[in-house]
Amino acid sequence: MEAEIQTIEKDALAAIAEAGDEQALDAVRVAVLGKKGRLTQAASGMRDLSAEEKPRLGQVLNAARQAITTAIDERRAGLEGDADRKSVKGMDVTLPGRAASRGGVHPLTLVEDRAIGILRRMGFALATGPEIETEWHCFDALNTPADHPARNESDTFYFDSGKLLRTHTSSVQIRTMETQAPPVRIVAPGSAFRRDEIDATHLSVFNQLEGLYVAREVTLADLKGTLEFFFHAFYGESTEVRFRPHFFPFTEPSFEIDVKLEITGKEAKWIEVAGCGMVDPAVFEAVSGTRGDDAYDPDGVTGFAFGMGLDRLAMIEFGISDIRHLVENDVRFLSQFS
Ligand code: DAH
Repeated sequence: MEAEIQTIEKDALAAIAEAGDEQALDAVRVAVLGKKGRLTQAASGMRDLSAEEKPRLGQVLNAARQAITTAIDERRAGLEGDADRKSVKGMDVTLPGRAASRGGVHPLTLVEDRAIGILRRMGFALATGPEIETEWHCFDALNTPADHPARNESDTFYFDSGKLLRTHTSSVQIRTMETQAPPVRIVAPGSAFRRDEIDATHLSVFNQLEGLYVAREVTLADLKGTLEFFFHAFYGESTEVRFRPHFFPFTEPSFEIDVKLEITGKEAKWIEVAGCGMVDPAVFEAVSGTRGDDAYDPDGVTGFAFGMGLDRLAMIEFGISDIRHLVENDVRFLSQFS
């Protein structure tokens, strides 16, 4: 039996040395050490040995198993090393690596986050509404009559259902008041859509930031104070801000806001940045009609609203000359802001 074990060991070591890949090596292992392997079977012969022979042959058997196992492990390490060397053959592993590029925040998101941050500190909560709107929320409830030019087929994207792509975020004012009793103080960022001719300052999709504050005794002084504070925080304490009378159907009185800004070394000039006004009582009446209560009774509450173009703010902020850059997603453009 001892001779048999030695033959098995010799054969096994020869087969291991010859195994050309891991599969062949594993086949040798199974054929010798597996359940039905040669050495395993030889070991089962131990049963018939006498008590004196058993310990010595046990040692021989263990030594053989050990030698074979070690040989398999060494051969496997050798094969892996060969494979590694082969896979990097012809490759210069001393060349410096390529750095992974880092993403950045889109310029529109940068100004949106900053604007919202300022308004949140003044107690405005974030609100949202759908981009596919009803005529009611986009126009009627905002005191915008059926014959208003903004409602024209050539200015607005309509669906067959009668719904439309909202032309401004002011619709969120209505949705908020329909579901929340005053006081409400919200800021609503989002996309708006118009059938504009596309050029350097117009796209059919753009982004706005809407604000609304309704409570008891909100006055024009609150409107001016809040928005002056906002633009000072946004453009710097010494920035001049002016309110120019204007018309919007949903506010009375209404204003456009200009700030005096210096853009890249040129002489400072007035730039229009937002629309605003005191919420028109007709808007409160429309909301009261849907709610069926007197929470927004025009004799009990007042409020102010404002809307600004975020694309405009971003273009001014970063000196971007063409609004189309904001949607083209050219990494050479975007990476300048991160
Ligand atoms: N919705 C207006 C627009 O798209 C902007 C605006 C003006 C919003 C006055 C307001 C506001 O809330 O009070 O041009």
